[in-house]
Order: sequence, then C-alpha cells, then structure tokens
Amino acid sequence: MQKILVTGGCGYIGSHTIVDLLENGFDVISIDDNSRSTLYALTGIERITHKKIKNYKVDLKNFDETQAVFQENIDIVGVIHFAAYKAVGESVEQPLLYFENNIFSLINLLKCVKEFNVPHFVFSSSCTVYGNPDSIPVTEKFPIKKAESPYGATKQMGEEMVNEFSRTENVSSILLRYFNPVGAHPSALIGELPLGKPMNLIPAITQTAIGKLPKMFVWGNDYDTKDGSCVRDYIHVCDIAHAHTLALQYLLNKNNSTKCDVFNLGTGTGVTVLEAIKTFEKVSGVKLNYEIGPRRNGDVIAIYANNDLAVSSLGWKIKYDLTEMMRTAWAWEQKIKIQEDLEKQNALLN
Ligand code: WQD
Repeated sequence: MQKILVTGGCGYIGSHTIVDLLENGFDVISIDDNSRSTLYALTGIERITHKKIKNYKVDLKNFDETQAVFQENIDIVGVIHFAAYKAVGESVEQPLLYFENNIFSLINLLKCVKEFNVPHFVFSSSCTVYGNPDSIPVTEKFPIKKAESPYGATKQMGEEMVNEFSRTENVSSILLRYFNPVGAHPSALIGELPLGKPMNLIPAITQTAIGKLPKMFVWGNDYDTKDGSCVRDYIHVCDIAHAHTLALQYLLNKNNSTKCDVFNLGTGTGVTVLEAIKTFEKVSGVKLNYEIGPRRNGDVIAIYANNDLAVSSLGWKIKYDLTEMMRTAWAWEQKIKIQEDLEKQNALLN
C-alpha cells in the first residue's frame, strides 16, 4: 500500500482526510503535536475504519524530530500538509506566532520532502487568499489580493513557497483552496473540536443550540447581499476530505498539467449567514437564540467558488448538501455533549 504522511492528522480536516485515504486503500501516518488537537480523533478514525493510525507527536518547527519521522518512513510517496494555526482573530492579535508556526513548519517539511525524495505534496490552502473578490463566483485564475489577516498572509506565502519549491525540485504539488469546511463524519465519531469560544459560524450555531453558549451574534445584516448578512460557500468536511484523496491519485497517475496545480474546493453555491441559521433550525427543530451584532473586522462580504476545475480534473463529485452539513454538525455537537456529561458523571463517581 502507498504510504501517505498527513500533518495535523488529529485535527478537523486532517482526521476526516485520513478516514478517506484509508477507505481508498492508502497506508497513512500522522504528525501532530496535539498543541491544538487531541488523540480523541485517532480513536474515532480507528472505530470508523478499524485501522490503527500511528501519530508522531512532533512539532514541525523542530527540524531534527521531523527529519527522524521521514528517516523511519522512507517509503512515503506523498505528504498532505494541514498542520497550521488557523484562527483569523488570533492571528491579528499575535502575527509573529502565526508567521513562526505556519511558515517555519512548512520550511522544515519541504526540506524533508527534498532530502527524502518524496514525489508528491498537497498543501492545505484557503479561499482567504482571494480577499474580497471583485466578482463572484471566483475561479482559480482570480487575483490574489492583500491578505485580510496574518493567517491569510501565511496561506498566501505558503502557496508561493510550495509553488517555487515544486518548480525547482523533483516534486509535483497541488494547492487546495478550501471555502468554508463544515459538518462532521456521518458516524458522529469525528468532527470539529474548536478550542475555547468558537469563532466560526457552524460551531457557534451548534454550541448555542445545545446550550453551551447562551446566545450567538450575527455579525452584521447591513451588507449589500440578499438578506444583508455575509455570503459564504459552506462545504462538507467529508467532501473536502475526498478531494485530497482524488488530488493524490491525480498526482500519482501523473495527470497534473503543471508542477503545482491549484483547485477551489467549494460547492459553487453562496449561502448567507441567516440562510445557514434557518437551515439549521429546520434540520434540528431548535429555535436559535441569536442577535444581530456589529460587522466583524476583516469579514469578506460575499464569496463562493467556481469549482469546475476540481470537478472536471479531479473527478470530484459533491455528496453533501447544506441540510446534511447542518444535520451532521448537530449530531456531532450532541455526541460531544453526551461524552462530556459521561465524563462529568465519572468524575463525580471517582
Ligand atoms: C463565516 C460568516 C461571519 C461566527 C474563516 C477563514 C477561513 C477558514 C474558515 C480556516 C462570517 C459569520 C461567524 C459567528 C457570525 N479558516 N459569523 N457569527 O471568516 O468565512 O472563514 O474561517 O480554515 O480561511 O477565513 O468563517 O465561520 O468565521 O464566518 O455571524 O458567531 O459567519 O461574520 O460572515 P470565515 P466564519
């Protein structure tokens, strides 16, 4: 079986991608320092796939420890790089933390890819590189605009680094620009585990609905959109995960047209914040306690993908609609609550 290294394998998109890779016949190892994730995801992966995943608890900023993982696994045929900090707001407050972590990690990883002649590299990027687009939907040919945050800047720099590295080294790469990944695996055994107060919309919705948050805010309803709230392209995390498997197969089959192809991963449909809330309420039967708040700095008004390239070149077929995104997100939130209640009971009993 062809071995793939997934960095950030204990994280949200990383864990879902590992499940998809295993289900498609790949052998997988993970590097995750668990600074922003837990090993809980590996348990979920094992219960879904009945396969045990080895995770190397290594900080990619530590070159020697990263190199040692490659020395132990010289048969790696591809790397999928997810491990990075991704909180937009935090990056505005602590830019150096983001530049150091996200850029140093990538440099060390690329040095190892070169040293150990790994032929394929997939980079986790984001639609944030487009900034506020002049028109929508956006294709991969749209201009890269000044990043709205240091987080976005690290994604733009990361794309440049992978692009130049692939041009000069014997590596073929792919940049995958996610729109807004949401939802959870249908088994509700893995999902998003936001640390602290959720910044992203869907975890804010589900945590408010389950009572973890007393209420949530809609950050602005006075934008020039159909109902005044911002437009995004929400895409199910399992559809995002499968696109990574397809991207690897595309590279392994040498179907790539350049040394660094780029693909948008979105549904191609724009959904407003208020539409997302309405869909959630319909799916869950829960009336959401929200208030209209002020606009959030840095928010893009409206963006959604033209995904024709990923559909035609990767053979990507989207399986989950907005209802499924909300249903699986809600099922996962309910599962977390059951788990937390059990842990509280055990703590009381012991
Ligand atoms: C979506 C919309 C908010 C929370 C960012 C990154 C992107 C990716 C996903 C990493 C906006 C509104 C949100 C809330 C709200 N990051 N909202 N109330 O900002 O589009 O994308 O996260 O992979 O790269 O840029 O996602 O979910 O934070 O916000 O009204 O409590 O929901 O204002 O309009 P965003 P988001």
